[in-house]
Amino acid sequence: MKRNPIEIFSEWADLDKDFGMEKNHKASVDEMLANVSEYKTPYTFIDAGCGNGWVVRSVVKDNLCKKAMGVDGSKKMIDKANKLDPSGSYVCADLISWLPKKKVDIVHSMEVFYYLINPKKMIQQIFDSWLKKNGRLIIGIDFYFENKVSHNWSDNCGISNMKLYSEESWINFFKIAGFNSVKSWRFGAKKDWAGTLIVRGVK
Ligand SMILES: C[S@@+](CC[C@H](N)C(=O)[O-])C[C@H]1O[C@@H](n2cnc3c(N)ncnc32)[C@H](O)[C@@H]1O
Repeated sequence: MKRNPIEIFSEWADLDKDFGMEKNHKASVDEMLANVSEYKTPYTFIDAGCGNGWVVRSVVKDNLCKKAMGVDGSKKMIDKANKLDPSGSYVCADLISWLPKKKVDIVHSMEVFYYLINPKKMIQQIFDSWLKKNGRLIIGIDFYFENKVSHNWSDNCGISNMKLYSEESWINFFKIAGFNSVKSWRFGAKKDWAGTLIVRGVK
């Protein structure tokens, strides 16, 4: 029987598989952060579905970053983030029911949104309640329709709830939410791998 993503990722935290995710996602995340920092103005930052918090720890080193925090639904992941970085800012919460105390300039998320019960609603919520005006949402996903090799991941990993949307659907979720300058591209494509789908929008 398939299990829910939080259960599986909590197990992964125990098995130290979060470090493998860091290694595998780093190139795509670097591409996403480069896009976001091209604005060259000071910013506040949330990593939605931060895992062990490695992106937060990298972003706070940027002089332009005024505050960075991570949110994840797995307590094991957040315990690990706090252990690795006791002075960092990490919250354990389901993304769909959590709201930041203060709106931020950048919301970043790598390999998370297709696990959510309602990704479209999440994108709307980020637009309405997480981001300041001119704020940016940038997401990276490897599980999407055009990346054929990913289609069996739900069965292979035994994870329930994985939403297989096309690139166009993800773009539409951003546009329907009200985002401007919506842009998507695929990073790191090679034979039998369509690349990380990156989608970005500006409020
Ligand atoms: C594939 S991991 C990616 C972690 C991190 N972004 C990275 O690149 O290493 C997905 C993460 O999303 C979290 N997650 C999944 N569904 C969630 C939800 N509904 N609310 C909060 N976090 C969630 C999981 O606990 C897990 O840490």
